[in-house]
Amino acid sequence: PKKIILDCDPGHDDAIALLLAHGNPNIELLAVTTVVGNQTLEKVTRNALSVARIANITNVPFAAGAVRPLIRNVEVAPDIHGDSGLDGPVLPEPAIQLDKRHAIDLIIDTIMSHPPKTVTLVPTGGLTNIAMAVRKEPKIVERVKEVVLMGGGYHVGNWSAVAEFNIKIDPEAAHIVFNEKWPVTMVGLDLTHQALATPEVIEKISAIKTKPAKFVLEMLEFFGKMYKQAQGFTYPPVHDPCAVAYVINPELIKTKRVPVDIELTGTLTLGMTVADFRFPPDDSCHTQVATELDHTGFWDLIVDSLERIGEV
Ligand code: BDR
Ligand code: CA
Repeated sequence: PKKIILDCDPGHDDAIALLLAHGNPNIELLAVTTVVGNQTLEKVTRNALSVARIANITNVPFAAGAVRPLIRNVEVAPDIHGDSGLDGPVLPEPAIQLDKRHAIDLIIDTIMSHPPKTVTLVPTGGLTNIAMAVRKEPKIVERVKEVVLMGGGYHVGNWSAVAEFNIKIDPEAAHIVFNEKWPVTMVGLDLTHQALATPEVIEKISAIKTKPAKFVLEMLEFFGKMYKQAQGFTYPPVHDPCAVAYVINPELIKTKRVPVDIELTGTLTLGMTVADFRFPPDDSCHTQVATELDHTGFWDLIVDSLERIGEV
């Protein structure tokens, strides 16, 4: 199995990413870390632990990270994820304790204690923790296998005309992550807007009559309502599990190698992921962007994970 660290801000789609990672046999979930984003650090951390309870995840360390972005003020997304960050389902009391370490130390310890190029970082929130980890221990850049992140978009934004939420809330952190010389796969909105929870998807998940599946349905119902209201989507785009799905089976997602950098000074374009498609990429290009999703293959993975998780 592929070893991953999931750095997240649950968040409805982060929660589904966590369930996918936990249930899929090709993934070994080494650690879960949380970062301020969809809601405050306190709220998203509690949500992560509640999701762990739902799926009975007991043997994975969870650690809390950054309470605010590197430079910017905290900006949360209640219009998409509600006041708790995970509105909709009833959230159970957490059953596991947080790891005592700060998320950046858990990330560093986990990467450095595994053989080189065996651990994949999967960030599905703002990039504050990852940026801080790489500043504290620069050796992780050489050591990780790759970074597969949900964020950005080379043709589309959602938090501004051209910027996506995870990048926009901490553009300086994103700048650090995209400019380190590790392989970065950007699973951005261009891709995740194809990952719609359509009625056929809902039907497949409804057929799994377990508590975790019911939890996912309740999340998707709320998420769908909010996405319709806030952004006019007929069906909600379920972003974060796309990054996990790419790690599980890269054949589900087409990619294109292209240099990507982060806009830090634009007055209209702050946090834009600027992809330069003018020339064929040379050897120095260490970034690629996700372009096309196998929708059926992707949702089948999620259904499969929920079936394997079972009634717990
Ligand atoms: C991203 O922003 C968050 O609201 C979601 O969890 C996802 O990671 C989509 O722009
Ligand atoms: Ca997220």
